[in-house]
Order: sequence, then C-alpha cells, then structure tokens
Amino acid sequence: MEIRLATMQDAKGILSLLKANHVSSLTEEEQKEGFVTTYFTDEQMETLIEKEKGVIIAVDNDKVVAFATAAPWSFWAQWPLFTYMIEHLAEYSFEGVTLTEENSYQYGPVCVDKAYRGTGLFQKVFYASLESMEARFPIMATFINQINPRSYAAHTRKVPMDTSGTFPFNGNKYYFMACSTSLKEK
Ligand SMILES: CC(C)(COP(=O)(O)OP(=O)(O)OC[C@H]1O[C@@H](n2cnc3c(N)ncnc32)[C@H](O)[C@@H]1OP(=O)(O)O)[C@@H](O)C(=O)NCCC(=O)NCCS
Repeated sequence: MEIRLATMQDAKGILSLLKANHVSSLTEEEQKEGFVTTYFTDEQMETLIEKEKGVIIAVDNDKVVAFATAAPWSFWAQWPLFTYMIEHLAEYSFEGVTLTEENSYQYGPVCVDKAYRGTGLFQKVFYASLESMEARFPIMATFINQINPRSYAAHTRKVPMDTSGTFPFNGNKYYFMACSTSLKEK
C-alpha cells in the first residue's frame, strides 16, 4: 500500500472511485454506508492535482483504493454550496480563531473503496492530506451532510475533528467541521 500525492496518471482511478461513491450511483440502502455529492470534471481534477497539489491517494496493486481532496476556498468557489460556506466563514471559529479564506482551506470529498473500509486506511489518508497542507494553512475545514452518519462517525471518532456548528443549504442540513493541520496520527 502506497499513500502519496496524486499525479495526472492517477486521475482516471480517482474519478472512478469518486463515481462509485457518488450519491447518483448509489441506492438508498447503499447511501447508508456514505456518499459524496461533489463531482469533478476532467479539467477540475487536473487543476486539483497539478495546480493545487490537493489530492492524496492510497494505491494498492496499481489501483486507487482511497483518496482525499483539499484546496483553497478560491478553487471551491465554483460550486454554490462552497460559495455559501465562504460567505459564512466568519461565523465559525476553531480554538478561538475566526475562520478566513487565508487561514483555512476546504478538505473533501474523501472516499475509501468498500473493500478497505474499517481498516485504518481512512485515518492514514486523512492525516496525509492534513500534512500536505500544513505549510500552507493552519486550519482545515469541511462539511458533512447530517444524513451521512458513517462519515460523521469517522471524522469524530477515528480522527478528532471539532464540530464548529451546523448550517442548512438547499434542503439539507450540514455539520461545519474544523481541525488543526498539525494533527498527527497517534
Ligand atoms: C466515510 C468513509 C471515508 C469513512 O471511512 P471508513 O473506512 O468507512 O471509516 P471507519 O469504518 O474506520 O469508521 C466509520 C465508523 O462509522 C461507523 N458506522 C458505519 N456505518 C454507520 C452508520 N450508518 N451510522 C453511524 N456510524 C456508522 C463504523 O462502525 C465505524 O465506527 P466503529 O469502527 O467505531 O464501529 C468511507 O465510509 C467512505 O468512503 N464512504 C463513502 C463516501 C463518503 O461518505 N465520503 C465522505 C463524504 S463527507
């Protein structure tokens, strides 16, 4: 198993794992094991990989089996949900520090192939993603749909993210989460 920054050669494998976990590919029953709502075009994936250096992957036997994306808010501003989060950033704080577009970035989506869930791979990819952004930002922020309890359990019990608040958007309710980029796996 190799955990590393993605290159363009990995783009196809990342998009295929993303598609398999996208809400549009899953039955209601399957969504109970988690789902993602963000999708990337080939061009957006290229920007994430090449410009933002924002995709950490786990590769096993030449297959991408997990990934976590991360980028500055400026990258995410092309989606309405993130525009909403950016507009409301100042309402959230982490350890007494008010979030800004300069001191924080957005992590996610994150996906772990079904066959590798519950193995500790999630934590490894999570911490590798944090480390890859540590020199650029002190605070990582993300959101979790309240109807994705598996993801919320993973981000609070397997890694210690703080819930900074909740917000509604487009008929869904979300947790607003944050943590320090200096967190390390114990
Ligand atoms: C979310 C995800 C990355 C977490 O990785 P993982 O390897 O499944 O995480 P783990 O199994 O280590 O931890 C999840 C925890 O949630 C628990 N859990 C599983 N299903 C659950 C449910 N429906 N409700 C509440 N908790 C649940 C697990 O039991 C586990 O806790 P435990 O080990 O203490 O019992 C992975 O499940 C995934 O890729 N899901 C599909 C895509 C997704 O939802 N991405 C996140 C979007 S924000």
